Amino acid sequence: MAIQSPEIQELWHSCQHLARGAGRLLRDHLNTHFRVEYKSNRFDLVTDVDKRSEAYLVESIRRLYPDAGILGEEGGTYQQGSLLWIIDPLDGTVNFAHHLPIFSVSVAVADQNGNVLAGAIYQPMLEELFSAARGKGAFLNETPLHVSDTDSLDRSLLVTGFPYNVAENPNRCIDQFVAFLQKGLPIRRLGSAALDLAYVAAGRFDGFWEVELNPWDVAAGILIVEEAGGIVTTYEGEPHPVIQPSSLVASNGKIHAQMLEVIQRVKVQPLVQQEP
Ligand code: IPD
Ligand code: CA
Ligand code: CA
Repeated sequence: MAIQSPEIQELWHSCQHLARGAGRLLRDHLNTHFRVEYKSNRFDLVTDVDKRSEAYLVESIRRLYPDAGILGEEGGTYQQGSLLWIIDPLDGTVNFAHHLPIFSVSVAVADQNGNVLAGAIYQPMLEELFSAARGKGAFLNETPLHVSDTDSLDRSLLVTGFPYNVAENPNRCIDQFVAFLQKGLPIRRLGSAALDLAYVAAGRFDGFWEVELNPWDVAAGILIVEEAGGIVTTYEGEPHPVIQPSSLVASNGKIHAQMLEVIQRVKVQPLVQQEP
């Protein structure tokens, strides 16, 4: 059954409400003594604040939408339903664990075919709420968002990120970083993929790429970039699958082909020699 417009409006409002609520919880705990644990390796952290934030989101979603499924970073799939909520309760955990105030909450909701209907990304330290609903535009708080006009890679400001297993150079991500650097471009690494996407939507960055991102990192951000007039694809230039882990390139559209060209060239001609 297709989701109707008034329902999308309500889902959008819920995304905003949930992201704000979890964001306040993160902000209130930033300078407290929280516990840090390690997940896949010694760089992959989780704090008890990540878990509290996810618990808040799951509890609120279950109350508001008892039949919906939830895909959350710290707890896997909770249940199946006609709507799927995709949540990252704290995007930027490494920053948070070091008391660095650059992190966000990402909340998105998709239909049963995996099409994201609405999403919100909240940066609680700056009280910036980026959000969008399909066909209704993207906003920073109440202000409409639009991607930048930059049409040359040489005048672009880019951002990237690295997976926790970066040392293994998956998909030659180190080589790709070097290839962009060798062009002399300014490149930032904020540590929150959701914010990277929100900032492309806001025209603060012209482009973002990262090798393997999970649905909770990108579900809200992809919709926000697209509704702000940008483009999001895989490294191969294919439509991004959103609810499967995948490489991602997001841009204002005008520099997209130039970014893909740099990434694809590395595939053919690796720059960095792998350790045997
Ligand atoms: C991470 C951040 C980071 C990105 C990593 C993600 P987490 O998410 O988004 O910027 O480079 O790939 O895993 O662990 O802070 O939620
Ligand atoms: Ca994340
Ligand atoms: Ca997270």
